[in-house]
Amino acid sequence: IYGSERRNSRGHNLAVLSHLRPFQQGLERWAEHQWKATPIVNGERCDSNSRTRVTNPHNRDRVAGEIAWSRQDIVENALSTAHQAFESWNRTPAEERAKYLEAYADLLEANEHELIALCSREAGKSLPDGIAEVREAVDFCRYYAMQARRQFAEPMEMPGPTGESNEYYLEGRGVFLCISPWNFPVAIFTGQIMAALAAGNTVLAKPAEQTSLIGGRCAELMLQAGFPPGVIQYLPGDGAGIGGQVLSDQRLAGVTFTGSTGVAHHISRTLAAREGPIIPLIAETGGQNAMIVDSSALPEQVVKDVIMSAFGSAGQRCSALRVLYVQEDVADIIEETLAGAMRDLRLGDPIRVETDVGPVIDQEAYDDLMKHVAELRERNRLVGEAPLPDNAEKGYFVPPVAYEINGMKDLDREFFGPILHVVRYEARELDSVIDEINGAGYGLTLGIHSRSESSAAYIERRVKVGNTYINRNQVGAVVGVQPFGGRGLSGTGPKAGGPNYLPRFATERVRTNNT
Ligand code: NAD
Ligand code: ALA
Repeated sequence: IYGSERRNSRGHNLAVLSHLRPFQQGLERWAEHQWKATPIVNGERCDSNSRTRVTNPHNRDRVAGEIAWSRQDIVENALSTAHQAFESWNRTPAEERAKYLEAYADLLEANEHELIALCSREAGKSLPDGIAEVREAVDFCRYYAMQARRQFAEPMEMPGPTGESNEYYLEGRGVFLCISPWNFPVAIFTGQIMAALAAGNTVLAKPAEQTSLIGGRCAELMLQAGFPPGVIQYLPGDGAGIGGQVLSDQRLAGVTFTGSTGVAHHISRTLAAREGPIIPLIAETGGQNAMIVDSSALPEQVVKDVIMSAFGSAGQRCSALRVLYVQEDVADIIEETLAGAMRDLRLGDPIRVETDVGPVIDQEAYDDLMKHVAELRERNRLVGEAPLPDNAEKGYFVPPVAYEINGMKDLDREFFGPILHVVRYEARELDSVIDEINGAGYGLTLGIHSRSESSAAYIERRVKVGNTYINRNQVGAVVGVQPFGGRGLSGTGPKAGGPNYLPRFATERVRTNNT
């Protein structure tokens, strides 16, 4: 997976001035820039009168640009263009398709400062998160290019009787609808589209409403990379509206969706009710992620990893830690150390290097999270909280908080922000903790902190999740290193950035030839 054909992109140590300076200087240029996104069909921008002005999540007085939304006729045109472009794109050799992915990766790197600035201004992403966002997108492109060459270039010879050749091969399905969330507006937007294209499909790219400027800029870079214009249609717009128009259309051949579990259920029901061909849904959805800490764990390491897992990216990661189970013997020391570390967290302008936690995405998210915090405050013991920044009222700042609760059963859904729930357990209750986590029905990430290898192995085996992290934080899966994806309420299972991802976008064929 991590062979000599490919390397993941290099990281930066922002504590070193020679690494930090180029970013600060590069980002300066984009501090006042105004972006404009429109639908793009067949390589042409399509303006519309339905527009929204975009403001910064950390400061509503500052405008980042304007989005023109897709009308029904634009969506119809996009569908027919993508449908027509499919045959020729599917016949394009995998090697050529892979080269387009790599050309786009190069352009992402060349435009890194602009994309990081835009991620901060439209999505409230911190500088390290913005850097990670672009790196992950680049890694997806190069990884899927490598996989396309391995899996799509040549048919696989199958054994058969003398005089007969049997070949197994993969090809595209047709038009794929790629629906992405706002929390990874470059990486997941890119990863979905590149996987679909690498496998020979054409794409309708539907970004999240909240991050359509970022999606628009990425779509422009894709076209600049040389992808034939018919293969990528960019459709910013309301999810229910575009979903309602496209999901039942007979020209659609597949859907890849990353977002909330509720919307995935809705899409799944809509696809099930369709007439005509049965088409696949790849769904990567939410989590109710736990970390189990036993009495052998190292408290300081635990707290460092909890801070990163629960409050990094303002808790707006599907992988983020939501429920921390701590064994009674170490609970006091861990809670005390955690409270101290939380007091030191700095909230503020996400692009500033001293900021630890930025804003949440929008007013709706802010209201929902603050309501949950108010309910926790009424009934539960506060473990720790971070101070609000100056001028907090200008943006959507939810201060990181940790409250004790009785168990995961107290939570009826995922709360997508910097809110940590802490549960104390006795050693004899470990099996009930595991049953409780499994009983919630999600299955995305799990953290384990234990210096007992046998305990860690026992917990790992019994908790049903997609990605387990032992004695470290549980966020930031790396392409080709920690293929990422969940099960149950967390998704249909394929792992983005893993060796079996592209075939999920393809159809399998066998050619038998009696020569
Ligand atoms: P969301 O479900 O509200 O929206 C996701 C996308 O679906 C958006 O583009 C939206 O416009 C679209 N959409 C909404 N209604 C639709 C409909 N009826 N038909 C078609 N499309 C529709 O999610 P979000 O708030 O953008 O993202 C946060 C969620 O995503 C969290 O639940 C998080 O856990 C999850 N997530 C999961 C992963 C993963 O890999 N498992 C990764 C990132 C985010
Ligand atoms: N892949 C992202 C993470 O691991 C969601 O945090």
